Amino acid sequence: MSKAKYTVTAALPYANGPLHLGHVAGVYLPSDIFVRFLRMNDHDVAFICGSDEHGAAITLRAKKEGTTPKKIVDKYNEIIGKAFRDFDISFDIFHRTSAEIHHETAQDFFKVLDEKGHFTKETSQQYYDEEFQQFLADRYITGTCPNCGHENAYGDQCENCGTALSPTDLKDPKSTLSGKTPIMKETSHWYLPMERHEDWLKDWIQQGTLDGVQQHDPKKWRNQVVGQCMSWIDNGLRPRAMTRDLDWGVKVPVTGGDGKVLYVWLDAPIGYISATKQWAADNNKNWKDYWTGDRKLIHFIGKDNIVFHAIIFPILLKAHEGFVLPDNVPAYEFLNLEGDKFSTSRNWAVWLHEYIEAYPDKTDELKYVLTAIAPETKDSEFTWKEYQTRVNSELADILGNFVNRALVLTNKYYDGAVPEQGNVTAEDQKILDEVAAIPARMSKLVYDYKLREAQAEAMNLARLGNKYLADTEPWKLVKDEANADRVKTIMNIALQITANLSIVLKPFLPATAAKISGFLDFNVNDWNQAGASDLLAAGHGTNKPSILFQKIEDELVEKEVEKLNATKASESNFPPQKEETSFDDFTKMDIRLGKILEAEKVKKADKLLKLLVDTGIDKRTIVSGIAQHYSPEEVVGKTVTVLMNLAPRKIRGVESQGMILMAEDTEGNLSFVSPEKDFAQGGEVR
Ligand code: 2FM
Ligand code: ZN
Repeated sequence: MSKAKYTVTAALPYANGPLHLGHVAGVYLPSDIFVRFLRMNDHDVAFICGSDEHGAAITLRAKKEGTTPKKIVDKYNEIIGKAFRDFDISFDIFHRTSAEIHHETAQDFFKVLDEKGHFTKETSQQYYDEEFQQFLADRYITGTCPNCGHENAYGDQCENCGTALSPTDLKDPKSTLSGKTPIMKETSHWYLPMERHEDWLKDWIQQGTLDGVQQHDPKKWRNQVVGQCMSWIDNGLRPRAMTRDLDWGVKVPVTGGDGKVLYVWLDAPIGYISATKQWAADNNKNWKDYWTGDRKLIHFIGKDNIVFHAIIFPILLKAHEGFVLPDNVPAYEFLNLEGDKFSTSRNWAVWLHEYIEAYPDKTDELKYVLTAIAPETKDSEFTWKEYQTRVNSELADILGNFVNRALVLTNKYYDGAVPEQGNVTAEDQKILDEVAAIPARMSKLVYDYKLREAQAEAMNLARLGNKYLADTEPWKLVKDEANADRVKTIMNIALQITANLSIVLKPFLPATAAKISGFLDFNVNDWNQAGASDLLAAGHGTNKPSILFQKIEDELVEKEVEKLNATKASESNFPPQKEETSFDDFTKMDIRLGKILEAEKVKKADKLLKLLVDTGIDKRTIVSGIAQHYSPEEVVGKTVTVLMNLAPRKIRGVESQGMILMAEDTEGNLSFVSPEKDFAQGGEVR
């Protein structure tokens, strides 16, 4: 049987901000692993991505940054593309939807559907912002999600629960342009009557059949994907507008389309096709080979993209005719960060490009951790502490330690040459059987999109090697010449395991696998060779190894967590915490309760009050900048907090002997800090 052919797509990221670890863990890393694995298994595969450069995500960002949409997409296409290259995500092409070839492709696609009668044109009342004179679709409108009650759901979907919405579904809708409640105004648009497709969609999603012919294995579709689609279908499919009243996007190419563009969720997935066209043109291939015939189309996406890829795009592909439909839509749940959702707008994120810049030699460490915690079936969480633990106790202590031992001992005992395997004991055979079984298990897991478990199996191979050396203790045996052959066998087996690791780690940790290959002077890209116990011939020369993984120090974790906390602090609009101080320094300050006896305005200083304060040990004058918050009458009789031993200073000619401590809120309002109980003046504060 010839090998299945694949076209694998990774959701086109909006060019409206950089990539964070949530994007990476839930789309780009798993698709990259999958594709690397397919390539090693000799599948014909195209790996397609690009940036999504239309829609309100872009225009709103431009508005926020006070610039043009074009500048925004150019900027972020560059940042995102570079981050992908630096992180070694192995796309065949990273394209963009602002490219001319994309506009043409999307327009042609639209025209074909229009000519075939797959659209209806409808006039309807839509939300309109009078102040900005603009219709409000998608992200131009926010309101309360009817499904989960989230207050900032967009007009096209709720980012909290992932439900796809229409603007009229929102409760209490508000324009994101003016913040005001919109009015209704008439406009006409092209609609996709999705209800026409209900019957075949049901069979295709649940049974994997189309016109009775098996298309895909529905058991391989994630529950969440089938569940979300079926709940959408069961709620009743409705006509969905495929055009928008906007000027940024792909122009509607038919009569009556002036001033209108294609709906971004129509144009974006067509971006997979136009990117393939560009790649094919650049590489002397025929793009149609990648979208027709006997080919598996796989869309890696986040869960908020499910209905667009598993319902709407399949409808469009089928209606157009001549395209394959997706074979699977592996959708990922969300990754959270240190107890909160990732958020671009709130800057609650670990940005991929910043990580790479800070830790250029630790890309595999990040890949490993993100795959280990990947939100395959439920939301998961990234914490720097777990990152540290996994790198130190798994990558360094298990994988790194094993590879290092195997190679260091080989160098020490045999000057780097692989020793003879000799007599294999029953114990050894058990190990070798396990080595043979692991790649096969991994293979099944990868084809089932269970990459997290597949990576864990690769680590089991390293664990097995580690344990084998720990159990057999060749470093002890070697002391007695009588054990020479036994030690050779052990080291040979350890090296065969190492060689196997250099193969099976390739999809997951490509840089590490390459390093191990370098140590072994052995580079095999063929997955089928994995599992063998004779990968390295006796006498084959190996090189001196270097350390694969440096341990992650506590300082790194502290620094990163602090950086995030600073974000939280700035988000709350309170200043971030000041530098650490010592207890000794704190106790140097003499703080007491004082009672204000008299108060008057300081002449020609509209912010200052001159106060006479009873501190319990004396009565002193203090000048305080509170005149815009308190009148003199108001403050007399109040018990406040006084910093007593601040060096006296002259303020507007009046000597101030201390300072009244004030609390300030985010709006700049001031309040005395007064005891909650009825305490007399003089009480010490500490
Ligand atoms: O959710 C998103 O980030 C979209 N830009 C994904 C688009 S995927 C495809 F359809 F282009
Ligand atoms: Zn919701």
